Amino acid sequence: MSKPKLLFVCLGNICRSPTAEAVFRHKAKAAGLNAVIDSAGTGGWHKGDLPDARAREAGGHRGYSFAGQTAGPVIDSDFLEFDLILAMDRRNYSDLIAKAPGTQVGKIRMFLDFGSSGEKEVPDPYYGGPDGFEHVLDLIEDASDGLIAHLQQ
Ligand code: 4NP
Repeated sequence: MSKPKLLFVCLGNICRSPTAEAVFRHKAKAAGLNAVIDSAGTGGWHKGDLPDARAREAGGHRGYSFAGQTAGPVIDSDFLEFDLILAMDRRNYSDLIAKAPGTQVGKIRMFLDFGSSGEKEVPDPYYGGPDGFEHVLDLIEDASDGLIAHLQQ
């Protein structure tokens, strides 16, 4: 894939997938990987909102930028537009599979399948404390490294 188009997806598009977008953008640049990187939510309640302040604070401390990000829902054209659609948890995955045209379901993957942590899902940190956001970052950093290596093979 010369310039892969990647879409990171969670439920609200304010915590996990914006963090994945920010982390992956930073790591892809450092690795010299040219990619289109975006994020979206399976739910549209937060359309137009900035990423959650707790996600921005935790990510900002590790040097990631959330500049220019606002929340939005997955739309039908995304299934044609993107090469890989990366779900943060099993519910996101099954919601995406249910919405995708049958010809495009192969693009949908669990993001942590590319990681080495042994965990399967990025847990929703929305109703928890700051530790949850740090754990989200740890998982996303690890899976981003794995996905970059996969795309550079
Ligand atoms: P996210 O977290 O899916 O990682 O963006 C959530 C954000 C908002 C809600 C749920 C999860 N919510 O119910 O509003």
